Amino acid sequence: MDQLERIGVSLDKNLLLMFDQLISKQGYQSRSEAIRNLIRQQLSQQRLSDPKANAVAAVFMVYDHHATKLSDKLIDLQHCVPTGRRPSHLLQVISSLHVHLDEHDCLEVVVLRGQVSRINQMAENLLSIKGVKLGRINLLATEPPPRIRHGRAAHSHPANNKRL
Ligand code: NI
Repeated sequence: MDQLERIGVSLDKNLLLMFDQLISKQGYQSRSEAIRNLIRQQLSQQRLSDPKANAVAAVFMVYDHHATKLSDKLIDLQHCVPTGRRPSHLLQVISSLHVHLDEHDCLEVVVLRGQVSRINQMAENLLSIKGVKLGRINLLATEPPPRIRHGRAAHSHPANNKRL
């Protein structure tokens, strides 16, 4: 872990009370952990405003599998970008998941990694396919540094899809 610094924060009593109630409902054990996560979330959210920022995303789609050739179109679109075996910093399809919801509907979750603008472009292409009934994209900005610190020492992961 990076070096820790302690900070003091002045807060309105009521605001602190509401914050404590919120984080206890969410299951946080300490204010520090809740504040750290809020800061990380805010920083990640802010980075998403940069179209060139690195991000991961899950695109959720519910579609009628009777829709003409929709499954083929979904697969074709995913094949248009490199898979994890041929990493690209612009856009990768890391994985996808298919669930048969009922006799009509399927859920497809496509996990993407790459630049925010490329992810959004791909997600829009996926969600605009005729027959997609519901769709949502969830984006998370990821840290840009090529060297990832975990385990005993910092080391690099040349292939983006390698296990951490
Ligand atoms: Ni299905």
